[in-house]
Amino acid sequence: MGFSIAIDGPAGAGKSTMAKVVAKKLNFIYVDTGAMYRAMALFLLRNKIDAQDAEKISIKCQEADITIKYENEEQVIYLNNENVNGLIRTEEVGNMASASSVNKEVRLKLVDLQRKLAQTADVVMDGRDIGTHVLPQANLKIYLTADAGIRAQRRYHELKIKGIDSNVEQIKKDILERDERDMTREISPLRQAEDAFLIDTSYMTIEEAVDAIMKLYKSTLI
Ligand code: DC
Repeated sequence: MGFSIAIDGPAGAGKSTMAKVVAKKLNFIYVDTGAMYRAMALFLLRNKIDAQDAEKISIKCQEADITIKYENEEQVIYLNNENVNGLIRTEEVGNMASASSVNKEVRLKLVDLQRKLAQTADVVMDGRDIGTHVLPQANLKIYLTADAGIRAQRRYHELKIKGIDSNVEQIKKDILERDERDMTREISPLRQAEDAFLIDTSYMTIEEAVDAIMKLYKSTLI
């Protein structure tokens, strides 16, 4: 088992931004578990499977071979040997990922992959259930959150930079819906682990939030 930092929290709180920077500083591997659920969601969307059809999802998800590789220090997600990094960041895929990740078979498959990665390397892993379920023995657990309006603004700007036009009110609605679903699902819902440190990034710069995490990391070494 390597050293592991678990970062959980709702959509748009800045998990992947912070996790990437912290991983780089520490020379750890960054594992974006949301990307795995997104790759699975893309597979289900392509196969025209309804988000509500639990039975079909349980069966079909077995045909999705999801693997990750590290190329030029970036995590690249492969879906049945196809690099899907450029296809999984849409709101449609994100919403389907939230809906399909309630499924037990989907979670079993991806949690297994996540645990294997943490066994062989030092990792900063972000997601919804890392501190509570995937890596309950993580050396450091962070729960990152921010005001929903601010998270919606961030997503809106992220999409805008990529040239994708969107509506901030619609994004906020989607975010709230997704939070609700992620926090109330039966299997490993999003919640703050008892031993996780809470960081609210609403009024923090990226640098300030990274500093806060680095301080906590250093405190675990004493
Ligand atoms: O972090 P993200 O927006 O890329 O995640 C997309 C969805 O995947 C999220 O709404 C819920 C699901 N997810 C999950 O259930 N467990 C994780 N560890 C990571 C993501």
